[in-house]
Amino acid sequence: MDIAEIIKKRRTFHIFSKKSVPREVIEKSIFAANQAPCHRRTFPWRFTSIGIKTRELLYQLQLTLKFGEKSIHESNLKMVRDKMLNPSHLLIATQVCTDNQVQKLEDYAACACAIQNLSLSLAAADVGCKWSTGKITKDPNTYKIAQINSNDEEIIGFIWIGYGIVPPLIKRPLISTIYRERD
Ligand SMILES: Cc1cc2nc3c(=O)[nH]c(=O)nc-3n(C[C@H](O)[C@H](O)[C@H](O)COP(=O)(O)O)c2cc1C
Repeated sequence: MDIAEIIKKRRTFHIFSKKSVPREVIEKSIFAANQAPCHRRTFPWRFTSIGIKTRELLYQLQLTLKFGEKSIHESNLKMVRDKMLNPSHLLIATQVCTDNQVQKLEDYAACACAIQNLSLSLAAADVGCKWSTGKITKDPNTYKIAQINSNDEEIIGFIWIGYGIVPPLIKRPLISTIYRERD
């Protein structure tokens, strides 16, 4: 498939089925991520694949973060459960920590490139994904549950991977508003 077609095809999935993605597809996408550009060759991206047992713990944490001590309606319970447990894979994307603020910014850009490479590789295999951030990606309990040392790595997102519903097209800026030429 032409690269332009894959770029266009890559979309953020919000609804996933329970169908599992073959291991080779995931491995290929990690290889693609690892080809991302990065200044000073710091290679700051890490991906932690979270198994179903650990995802159950993250699901419980998400319920606490979202609803606290309140009683939860069955439909909300299902909504959160489907979000946390339906996707075939959950990768936690982390960035290796540095005290150098200039490097930190460039490392984040490199990690974003890696995640885009990963997403494109998945899209080429007709697999969807979603980069998500929020309370749960910052919560200290997430680090504990996923056994990620916050002194070494910072969570920059959850990458949900699987088959599912392709979202409707979104309106993008006109090229004339994002591109200009100078003599
Ligand atoms: C850094 C980053 C964080 C994101 N976090 C979320 C998120 O928490 N929830 C969500 O629904 N989408 C999240 N997204 C996905 C965007 O919402 C999505 O890319 C945007 O709506 C455009 O849709 P598309 O990816 O299908 O082109 C995130 C994207 C990026 C780059």
